[in-house]
Amino acid sequence: KEMDGVDFNLNSDQLMMRKMVRDFVEEEIVPLASVTDETHEFPLASIQKMGELGLMGIPIPEDYGGAGADFLSYIIAIEEIARGCASTAVILAVHTSVGTFPILYFGTEAQKRRYLPKLARGEMIGAFALTEANSGSDASSLVTTAEKRGDHYVLNGSKRFITNSGYAGVYTVMASTDRSKGPHGVTAFLVDKDTPGFSVGKAEKKMGLNGSATCELIFEDALVPVENRLGAEGQGFKVAMSLLDGGRIGIGAQALGIGQAAFEAALAYAQERVQFKQAIINFQGIQFMLADMATQLEAARLLIYQAAARRLAGLPYSKEASMAKLFASDTAVKVTTDAVQIFGGYGYTKEYKVERYMRDAKITQIYEGTNQIQRMVIAKHLRK
Ligand code: CAA
Repeated sequence: KEMDGVDFNLNSDQLMMRKMVRDFVEEEIVPLASVTDETHEFPLASIQKMGELGLMGIPIPEDYGGAGADFLSYIIAIEEIARGCASTAVILAVHTSVGTFPILYFGTEAQKRRYLPKLARGEMIGAFALTEANSGSDASSLVTTAEKRGDHYVLNGSKRFITNSGYAGVYTVMASTDRSKGPHGVTAFLVDKDTPGFSVGKAEKKMGLNGSATCELIFEDALVPVENRLGAEGQGFKVAMSLLDGGRIGIGAQALGIGQAAFEAALAYAQERVQFKQAIINFQGIQFMLADMATQLEAARLLIYQAAARRLAGLPYSKEASMAKLFASDTAVKVTTDAVQIFGGYGYTKEYKVERYMRDAKITQIYEGTNQIQRMVIAKHLRK
């Protein structure tokens, strides 16, 4: 089903969300972002404040302790937060779209009552564990197993590159209950942080996104109660894939926010920086770079809003989500690289923020499905 025309005149709730988050980011997030990047400290204080403002449960119904806002409002919030700090944005994006949504969409009423209010208020952080050391793009080749014994499942194996690890209270973990069935043998589980046999392993040392925690998860006869199974046995891969469809719009928004911040910095700098006796923005070489940056960011924004609007309207949006993530992340890498170029030698130093934007942007082409995987998903839909 195609939509004929989407109205991107944001409604008053969405505009209010943008204003509220933008003000919060200017006051609370921007001043901390460089420090977070340097110290590699998880921004717990910011997360707590975001919880108090209702930002940890934006699209979660009020019945379950959330703000009850729509998905586009949530996407706008991610974009705004990423303008200040990409790490804080991914913490929220993973917490919401693959940490909390699994329970909202696939949980039993008891699971919803148990987890959603805490997650939505930010008293608990959510995480998502699909990737393993040898199972990245080929997600269904995962080898972590879950074996049913009485009223528990026994999990064995490990996960890698898990965002929010160590800080999350609950992890949605994909494990195989039947290795012979491939993707159809994967089952999803809600694993509490204090589960016996479960531990958080080594943290990755990354190129950027330093405020976000990325560790290994280890399962050694981890005992997960049967009531913590999410959905039926064998449904886990579909659960994961459908969550990633929404998650990818969020990563697109994160990329957009990083790119927007870099563009604004470059535009301001080009107007101040004088060479050859004039502001460098007077040179067409710089003008064309800025014009391309602005155009690509606007195109990315429209793709992201379109994917979000389709989801809101109950239309299929998997292809559009992949297009948005692909285009926005490529744009973020291009725009942040050009921003460093406009800043010249200064741009390559830590004195300015553009080098951080460039390092943070790169990961958006990789996680929640590499851009090569997005192209595979798009092509799959084209062939249907
Ligand atoms: N929604 C619902 N079901 C879906 C689906 C979707 N979007 N996509 C696939 N499925 C279903 C299929 O219909 C199929 O079921 P049936 O046989 O019953 O039809 C089943 O899942 C298997 O599908 P495929 O045969 O297409 O599976 P595949 O093994 O070929 O994999 C893939 C497809 C697209 C390559 C997938 O493996 C993939 O997305 N890989 C990338 C993994 C990824 O994005 N990882 C991100 C990790 S999370 C993260 O990064 C978070 C973070 O920290 C920021």
